[in-house]
Amino acid sequence: MSTPATVSAATAETNIMTTRSPRVISISSGKGGVGKTFVSVNLAAHAAAQGHKVLLIDADLGLANVDVMLGLQTSGSIRDLLTEGTSLEELIVPCKQGFDVLPGGSGLHELTNLNVREQQTILDTLRETGRDYDLILIDTAAGIGENVLYFASASETALVVLTPDPTALTDAYALIKVMSQQRGVRRFMVLVNQTDEIDGQITFKRLLSVSDRYLDIYLDYIGYVPQHTDVRKAIQRQKPLIHNGTDLSRHLEKLFDSLLDRPRDSSRSAGLQFFWEHSLAASLGDDDALNTTALQAEGKLQ
Ligand SMILES: Nc1ncnc2c1ncn2[C@@H]1O[C@H](COP(=O)(O)OP(=O)(O)OP(=O)(O)O)[C@@H](O)[C@H]1O
Ligand SMILES: [Mg+2]
Repeated sequence: MSTPATVSAATAETNIMTTRSPRVISISSGKGGVGKTFVSVNLAAHAAAQGHKVLLIDADLGLANVDVMLGLQTSGSIRDLLTEGTSLEELIVPCKQGFDVLPGGSGLHELTNLNVREQQTILDTLRETGRDYDLILIDTAAGIGENVLYFASASETALVVLTPDPTALTDAYALIKVMSQQRGVRRFMVLVNQTDEIDGQITFKRLLSVSDRYLDIYLDYIGYVPQHTDVRKAIQRQKPLIHNGTDLSRHLEKLFDSLLDRPRDSSRSAGLQFFWEHSLAASLGDDDALNTTALQAEGKLQ
């Protein structure tokens, strides 16, 4: 039996591990084109400006576009990590806004379903390099593909982005359902994009009401982002728009501050250690087919 001294030493050790491990947040959505990459890039820029050491991973391995949104020149991608054995240090690109990017690579059809060995290689590499960061953001592809489940469910926190569009709502519910039932994710942050305060809340309440009825999960509403022409302009200029002094920027700053101030999830906060073990176990032990018919039946949103 442990003595009180050894118990407290073990607790202290766990605390040190936890505080040192990076916070890993995945940014996902059911439906495509709802604003995940826009949110990821601006959240990364804001967190870096707040003094965090941030790595943004472009995990949309088929259609990566973080580099495009930031106007980055990249010479390699996650593919080189897998096929050429290129080191992460060689692939990571520092950007002007003070954070680092791991580019995903576009048109890499063969990477849209990473096999277990590839998943293992990525996590093994990230586990080492990830220690240099205190925040890792993972911008995933849309939908409920295997890579999305792998990256999102292995993160400490899953941030789900949706719009008030009914199909975005139904697809967000499907994603949350699959992540909770197949991968054991219990807590989700939710951001409603391209809306206003009232519609943002209505959308969140719809998602909450169907989730409360059918799933054993906790949804945390982060807030809304307005529809604004500056977003498209910023994307065309290939720059984040945060910290440009506009009302939209101030709105995003407040939203991201409140997101970053959320307490860490102690049950999932062992960072990349957790990331590694949890996702590997999930991908090795889980090949349940997704019952889309049941999802649609349950997804009747009022
Ligand atoms: N708040 C907003 N106001 C106006 N337009 C927006 C807003 N958010 C996103 N958009 C528009 O939506 C488009 C898609 O955004 P983004 O690429 O971030 O979505 P995504 O979810 O990452 O897409 P994908 O699923 O293809 O990865 C952007 O090019 C931009 O024009
Ligand atoms: Mg995207």
